[in-house]
Amino acid sequence: MLNIALPKGRLADKTLDMMLRAGILSSIEDSGRKLVFENAAGDIRYFLVKPWDVPVYVERGIADVGVAGKDVIDENSPDVYELMDLNIGKCRLAVCAVNGYRDDPSEKIRVATKFVNCAKRYYASIGRDIEVIKLNGSIELAPLLNMSDVIVDLVETGTTLKENNMGVVREITKISARLIANKASYRFKRGEIDLLTKKLGETANA
Ligand code: PRP
Repeated sequence: MLNIALPKGRLADKTLDMMLRAGILSSIEDSGRKLVFENAAGDIRYFLVKPWDVPVYVERGIADVGVAGKDVIDENSPDVYELMDLNIGKCRLAVCAVNGYRDDPSEKIRVATKFVNCAKRYYASIGRDIEVIKLNGSIELAPLLNMSDVIVDLVETGTTLKENNMGVVREITKISARLIANKASYRFKRGEIDLLTKKLGETANA
């Protein structure tokens, strides 16, 4: 049996829809509060977890494979294989600020973000000192209330920025959902994982 960790929240519908179209799952139960499911053939067990926890389940081998955003992978650097770009959940990680913001290169920049490691890596790459303010959500509030100068955050439609008089200052990287695999599972369940990857690949490119 193949164990699959899937993300709840924003990516859930797109991921489950893709699993259905690829014929990996035959139907989606109306989930309610249930967290673990099996497909009709009984060869796949899947469970829904917080997006940031998918790589944890996969790295520990509780899930053989999982679907995780590139943002979560880059931030946490799990020891897993990244098998495929699923071409869903597309957005970008970007530095954003209130419109009209001017950077003063002589000052440390105060950066509010959920992506502490990505922000540190980006600013190190351009040789800028930063003070990181770690937040867990509604990141856009920080510069609006002058707690930070900028944010490093995900931008999908751009609506949140627009509605708060903010804009993208610099794109750091493009993001999309990836299929990841546990390294030992990939050795011992190679056939099943390759078949799943092939089906998802055909669906992703359809
Ligand atoms: C994400 C992100 C932005 C918003 C971007 O937050 O942090 O706030 O979505 O999307 P948009 O460009 O389509 O407006 P999310 O809604 O996941 O919640 P959070 O603020 O709690 O992180």
